[in-house]
Amino acid sequence: MNNINDVVFSGDYDKKKPCSSSWISSMLFRRITLVFLVAVSCLGNCDSDDLESVLRAASMKDKTVILTSVNIAMAKPGFVLDVFLESFKIGNNTKKLLNHLVIITLDQKAYARCLAIHPHCFALKIQGLDLSSEAFFMTPIYLEVVWAKIHILATVLQKGYNFVFTDADVMWVRDPFPHFYEDADFCITSDAYYGNPSDRKNLPNSGFMYVKSNQRTMKFYKYWYSSRKTFPGLNDQDVFNKIKYDPFTAKLGLQMKYLDTAYFGGFCEFSKDFNKVCTMHANCCIGMERKIHDLKMVLEDWRRFMLNTTNLKPSSSFTWRAPEKCR
Ligand SMILES: *[C@@H]1O[C@H](CO)[C@@H](O)[C@H](O)[C@H]1NC(C)=O
Ligand SMILES: *[C@@H]1O[C@H](CO)[C@@H](O)[C@H](O)[C@H]1NC(C)=O
Repeated sequence: MNNINDVVFSGDYDKKKPCSSSWISSMLFRRITLVFLVAVSCLGNCDSDDLESVLRAASMKDKTVILTSVNIAMAKPGFVLDVFLESFKIGNNTKKLLNHLVIITLDQKAYARCLAIHPHCFALKIQGLDLSSEAFFMTPIYLEVVWAKIHILATVLQKGYNFVFTDADVMWVRDPFPHFYEDADFCITSDAYYGNPSDRKNLPNSGFMYVKSNQRTMKFYKYWYSSRKTFPGLNDQDVFNKIKYDPFTAKLGLQMKYLDTAYFGGFCEFSKDFNKVCTMHANCCIGMERKIHDLKMVLEDWRRFMLNTTNLKPSSSFTWRAPEKCR
């Protein structure tokens, strides 16, 4: 078990000599992470065919899929998953996108609920971990979930699929695809957007990203995932912020662009113009109940907007009432 990550990825990032001077501390570290790594490595082998067939069934013509992940705390009737699916149904031309959405479930109950309401479900199994409760921000379980997410996204790229990954607390009210940058490998939303899509000072939010499958993105995702070891205890987004200036990332030639909050807004920074908004994310908000309350308000606001023809003009200054509890 010297090179666990080689099992996980068959990658070329972890070809360090196993018996280096830090062998003992690294063995201690490995013992802690062993359960996780072994379980996820199984994913690459054991569940690979399952994943492949779910992706194939959900894929657009150009091999693009939309992915989200939920546990039962989110997938219970009336909770985040239902609000998420509702947004596609009341959004403008977004209903058809549901045909391309794969819901990745983190526990058995969430999988059962998914099967009951949606055609494309994939059960992600992380052995030895119960992922069914609300994963509070930055707890060990939360970290396992976000890193498992990066791992599965890496696998999807390796299988040749482009993807939009969306957290389930992102409301889709317009088709976002026309607003992705043609020349970018990787588009990510922003908690704060400073006006230039290439400016790496924009604050990224990994809760919504569009990624094309190619050599650069495959290598970047492997690197991102393996950087968990370099920065133990950080989540995917914090590690992303560490490695985005990295020489390795620069050398890959990865074209990374930030999406404008005018189209891809959230509670951190709003999409003010209802004639532009594509997605609204309940970011800058902790706590499932508060999120659900305010996301339902977002959908109410959208309905009011769509119902009143006065609003459907570029000059309309229709405004959001949400958020109320997420302030
Ligand atoms: C909805 O989509 C149609 C077709 O793309 C477009 O013509 C219309 O302006 C859109 N309405 C809104 C409110 O965005
Ligand atoms: C439609 O919106 C306009 C402008 O926001 C508002 O003045 C008007 O009362 C609304 N009409 C209805 C029927 O809600």
